Amino acid sequence: MRKILVTGGTGYIGSHTAIELINQGYQPLLIDNLSNSKMDRLDQIEKITGVRPEFEKIEMCDGEQMKELFSRHQDIEAVIHFAAVLQVGESVEKPLFYYRNNLVSTLNLLDSMNGSGIRPIVFSSSCTVYGNPDTLPVTENAPVKEAVSPYGNTKKMCEDIIRDSTISTTIQAISLRYFNPIGNHLSALIGEEPHGEPTHLVPYLTQTARGIRPHLNIFGNDYNTPDGTCLRDYIHVVDLAKAHIAAIERLLDNKQDKNYEVFNIGTGIGYSVLEMVQAFEKATGMPVPFKFAPRRSGDVEAVYADTHAAEKSLGWKAELGLEDMFRSAWEWEQTLEHHS
Ligand code: UFG
Repeated sequence: MRKILVTGGTGYIGSHTAIELINQGYQPLLIDNLSNSKMDRLDQIEKITGVRPEFEKIEMCDGEQMKELFSRHQDIEAVIHFAAVLQVGESVEKPLFYYRNNLVSTLNLLDSMNGSGIRPIVFSSSCTVYGNPDTLPVTENAPVKEAVSPYGNTKKMCEDIIRDSTISTTIQAISLRYFNPIGNHLSALIGEEPHGEPTHLVPYLTQTARGIRPHLNIFGNDYNTPDGTCLRDYIHVVDLAKAHIAAIERLLDNKQDKNYEVFNIGTGIGYSVLEMVQAFEKATGMPVPFKFAPRRSGDVEAVYADTHAAEKSLGWKAELGLEDMFRSAWEWEQTLEHHS
């Protein structure tokens, strides 16, 4: 079995990807510093797949730990790199922590890969690099805009670092620019566990439906969109996880056109915040009280993906719709005991 290193492997997207890797016959080696996830993810992955993935607690900012990891596991064939700190608001408060953590971990990873002759890496990037795009749907050729947060900037900078590494080393890379990942594995055994008051829309929706929050604040209803609220491209995390398998196989099979490629990973459909509230109510039968609130600083008006490149080159297309996303998010919400 081919061993794939998954950094941030016990996190929200990392653990969903580990499941898909196991389902496709790969052997994921998960590493994480457990700063934003727990070891019990391994039990849940085992329950879902019947396989307990190998795990090591690693601090990626420590170059020695990374070198030792790669010398212990000389059979790693490829890397999927999720590990990062990722709260937009926190990144504004602690920019140096964000830059140091997300950049140094990536540099150490690339150094170790280079030292061990490992070629393929799939990087977890974000549509945040497009900022407020000039044309929609946004293609991979759209200009990368100045980031609105240090977090967003670390995604852009890591993309640049990885791209430049592919020029003079044997490293070959694909950056996947995710749109808005939501939902959970259909087993409701794993999912996103927001700490404190959620910042993302869907955890806020599910907590409001459950009565933990009195109402949802919809940030801005005066945008230049059909109903005045922002448009986003929401993608089911299981579809997103599958895109990583397609990308890693493209690299392992030497099918890439260039040493560095970028693909949008979304559904291609933009939904407004109001449409999301209505679709959630329809899918779950749960009412969601909401109020209009002022615009949130840093929000872009509208962004959704042109997905043709991913369809053509990765042979990947999102399959799950809003109903699957909301049903799974709602089922997961009801398993979270720490809120009640
Ligand atoms: N929203 C609300 N009320 C809330 C939460 C969100 O109205 O309580 C709205 C936002 O204004 C936005 C939409 O719901 O219009 C989606 O917001 P999220 O916070 O769920 O997601 P973002 O689009 O802000 O997040 C995306 C990516 C992040 C990235 C960020 C910054 O998911 O990884 O863009 O560019 F960092």
